[in-house]
Amino acid sequence: MKYVYIIVSLVLAAAPAMAQTPVYLDETRPVGERIEDALGRMTLEEKIAVIHARSKFSSPGVARLGIPEIWTTDGPHGIRPEVLWDEWDQAGWTNDSCVAFPALTCLAATWDEEMAALYGKSLGEEARYRKKDMVLGPGVNIYRTPLNGRNFEYMGEDPYLSARMVVPYIRGVQSNGVATCVKHFALNNHETNRHNTNVIVDDRTLYEIYLPAFKAAVQEGGTWAIMGSYNLYKDRHCCHNAHTLNDILRGEWGFDGVVVSDWGGTHDTDQAIHDGLDMEFGSWTDGLKGGYRNAYDSYYLAYPYLERIRSGEVGTEELDEKVRRVLRLMYRTVMDRNRPLGSMCSEAHYAAARRIGGEGIVLLKNDGGVLPVDMDHARKILVVGENAVKMMTVGGGSSSLKVQREISPLEGIRERAGEGVSVVYERGYVGDVTGEYNGVTTGQDLSESRSADQLIADAVEQARDADYVIFVGGLNKSAHQDCEDSDRVSLGLPYGQDKVIEALAAVNDRLVVVNISGNAVSMPWVSDVPAIVQAWYIGSEAGHAIADVLSGDVNPSGKLPFTFPARLEDVPAHIFGEYTGVPSRDTVDIEYKDGIYVGYRWTDLQKKTRPLFAFGHGLSYTTFEYGEPVLDKTLMSRDGSVTVSVVVTNTGTREGQEVVQMYVGDRKSSLPRPLKELKGFEKIRLAPGESRTVSFTVGTDDLSFFDPDRHEWVAEPGKFDIYIAAASDDVRGKVTFELE
Ligand code: BGC
Repeated sequence: MKYVYIIVSLVLAAAPAMAQTPVYLDETRPVGERIEDALGRMTLEEKIAVIHARSKFSSPGVARLGIPEIWTTDGPHGIRPEVLWDEWDQAGWTNDSCVAFPALTCLAATWDEEMAALYGKSLGEEARYRKKDMVLGPGVNIYRTPLNGRNFEYMGEDPYLSARMVVPYIRGVQSNGVATCVKHFALNNHETNRHNTNVIVDDRTLYEIYLPAFKAAVQEGGTWAIMGSYNLYKDRHCCHNAHTLNDILRGEWGFDGVVVSDWGGTHDTDQAIHDGLDMEFGSWTDGLKGGYRNAYDSYYLAYPYLERIRSGEVGTEELDEKVRRVLRLMYRTVMDRNRPLGSMCSEAHYAAARRIGGEGIVLLKNDGGVLPVDMDHARKILVVGENAVKMMTVGGGSSSLKVQREISPLEGIRERAGEGVSVVYERGYVGDVTGEYNGVTTGQDLSESRSADQLIADAVEQARDADYVIFVGGLNKSAHQDCEDSDRVSLGLPYGQDKVIEALAAVNDRLVVVNISGNAVSMPWVSDVPAIVQAWYIGSEAGHAIADVLSGDVNPSGKLPFTFPARLEDVPAHIFGEYTGVPSRDTVDIEYKDGIYVGYRWTDLQKKTRPLFAFGHGLSYTTFEYGEPVLDKTLMSRDGSVTVSVVVTNTGTREGQEVVQMYVGDRKSSLPRPLKELKGFEKIRLAPGESRTVSFTVGTDDLSFFDPDRHEWVAEPGKFDIYIAAASDDVRGKVTFELE
């Protein structure tokens, strides 16, 4: 009887306790209710705390309520190593080495949404395992000038291509319960004066060129965070810019995530309160040591905001809205108890990095079939160039990584070469022998005592009797060579590489130039070199991916995501004189006078100047033949669509992949329009002799331009051309239809 009494009492005691699970912790309740419940429990001070950082990369949760802190990390190519709480120096962990995935230019060059999904999923798993809740990336700023030091972190010059590639990346990362923070919103298209450049751009250009990838990231990718950029637009910094953040991002696109400031991108408490910012990061870097109270409390959205509320200067309405959004982020990430656990440095991640790298490498030129290199039977292969041995994952700014391993091109080639093949290495030139970023060092000794002339002479000597000469050079993520916070100073290759290449070309006609960069470079020797490969910053598996393509184990299938101009003077951002590259302390107005004519949109207008290599260009070891494109109808109703189909055949002897590109051009319109714009692409794999029909459906959206007066997208009736192309300068067929 006594036991029965105890059991009954226990049950009665437990019942109300179970019923009392607070709403904010109750996973059966809708998130909106949980957010309101949590908000209602938070003190003013707790609310202020969650909207700004309290270390270099984290913001506090609500400890009293058991809501965890949020940890962010760079991004976008791998998970950044741990730094100290308040400093950029390394924390000295020994378990924070990652897999470096190929840079985003390489991902864009795959033109393959499946690769973007694989990338996002793998990176998200690494982030999750390292207990990071937000990846600071991907970047989708448009490639406007080849001098931009951060182009390697972005996805090229075309809004459609960037939009298509960013969506699966976001979904992949976020499927791990880790947020993406798409950056840098908006108009951050070069680095010099990045904090004080005020961009002047017309609405049409803004909507047609610079915003579509961000819009897709929000509306199709469903990104949970966006990072405001450092620069100004309409005289306001983009981290608190009512026009871009309140009107466009939230008003027009319905973004329900958080706006995160770039590190140190916040400048004003009142603007931060009212003009769209939710979470402030990185404003002062002396952390707990400096300033009044401590520095994190001195953030614009910390004590100064609290004071304004306490004094009655501002209400709490804006604060509650910010906290609601931060709580929503928390429910999507740290409060999601079911999110996967992630994994790190797994063989699957290395395989993904190698595959994406192999698919992104672009074969620019291959005269006389020099490539693929016969790595099984060649007698002697000479490899020349610093980039054949230099680690490329350290450097470049915030995207710098500490990798578990990185295979250099030379190692990749050596590993792949057959037993009897002698692989000889010569330096050729000296670039940057340092290898350090924020305390991560490559540990490589690249010191060299020979003179520049001697290095060339030694390489030439070895080149004379080599079956193949593979020159691996390019840029290297040092300051001004593809690096955050500095732009390049010229289009040319640095460190006298042109001279080395010319000397090698003079003595050996089986010369392959492998250019490693995230940017276009000029190639004055282009007609003297039979084979040229664009190889990007590929990360941990660089050497394997490069050897895969050079040897023919992987048939190249990448296509350029941006134009390689022949000269800097051919780039509209430079022609119209609105890129100065001159550092300034004052605000610098930069007017985008090139308007919508960025990249191939400009090339198509030109009669005489041709680029070195066009947007969309990329060769294969096999050949593809395109049939005549066929339309299902020639008259399209206003809310209808047309479908164009084309048969593509592999006419060579190897299996290969081709990116079939579809561009649309408006014959006549009330506003000037580019000759053609990319509106579809598909990557297909074909066995020798195999044919496949590729179809694209074109709807009114694909025909529209942004009418700045009406502030809407407009498709005008009339004739439109559809171009089926293997590159923007290699149109294989054209059909025409009319929009009613
Ligand atoms: C960069 C961001 C980066 C942040 C944090 C800033 O300097 O512009 O892209 O995510 O630092 O490292």
